[in-house]
Amino acid sequence: MTPGPPEHGPSPTIWPLGFAVGIAVALVGLIIDPTVIAPIGGAIALVCGFLWARDATSEMRRRVPAVKAEVREADTGRVVTPPPAASQKMPRSRFLEASTLGLGGLIGGIVTVPIAGFAILPSFLGQKRHEVDMGPIDAYPVGKWFIGTFMTDPKEGEVSRRTAFIRNNGVTNSSPSFTIISNRCAHLGCPVQANGPTGAILGEKNVTEHTSNGSILLRPVVPAGFGCPCHGGQYDTEGNRTAGPPVRALDRYAFDIVKGHLVLLSTFSVSHVVGIGAQAKIYKYKLAGPGEHVDGPEQWFYPLNPPHH
Ligand code: FES
Repeated sequence: MTPGPPEHGPSPTIWPLGFAVGIAVALVGLIIDPTVIAPIGGAIALVCGFLWARDATSEMRRRVPAVKAEVREADTGRVVTPPPAASQKMPRSRFLEASTLGLGGLIGGIVTVPIAGFAILPSFLGQKRHEVDMGPIDAYPVGKWFIGTFMTDPKEGEVSRRTAFIRNNGVTNSSPSFTIISNRCAHLGCPVQANGPTGAILGEKNVTEHTSNGSILLRPVVPAGFGCPCHGGQYDTEGNRTAGPPVRALDRYAFDIVKGHLVLLSTFSVSHVVGIGAQAKIYKYKLAGPGEHVDGPEQWFYPLNPPHH
């Protein structure tokens, strides 16, 4: 019997390697930069996976005959369907390759899709902006500090009450300048206090402003800095950490002036501040949780932030 043509193994291809590199880049990207590097890795894995699957199945497709032959038995005249030739069966190597590819893709999808969704979706969904009307700017004499307490969401009531240290820096380049520092400690989030006399001790009255955000209480204060009662974290009047365990400066509020009123916008994190008041250079970052470094190599240990409200 004449031996048939030799069975060729699968031809070498770079797509499995590209697929593995894409998955690796996507996983590293989820840690370093979920919005840019992770999608690039995902795209590489997707394209290489598709081309790998196409190559893996193309040979099988070529081996399927276009027309099935019928064979008639010579002695009985019965029509029988011949068994598939050896070359028509799926070779073991092809089967293993296809199942490895399928299983790898399935596991990769199960692992990466939820993480990628968690990391990327919030950027597309947008976050609700809590604007807080803090009353007319005339209530804030230039150069004076106030401890302002306010509700970020009056519908939620007192549970949404927050505190900020507010100073009117006067007008710079024809726009009003305010320093508005959050009292959430940058160590573990305890409420930071002003280090200095307040209200009655100063002989000044507290001010209550009634705004669309309910009542805003403004207590005059002369702070030498800010201090945290929990673990002794200390900050200067620009919110820079001066002592204790906090890992960065105090967060700040962005603000706007709307119809003569001071309006608080979202909060952002700050690594440090150089200078004072209207001249201060603020090194700002996306809002981070308490204890999270926002600059230096330590920031790499805090790659993913849940949405903040
Ligand atoms: S929570 Fe403020 S120092 Fe620890």
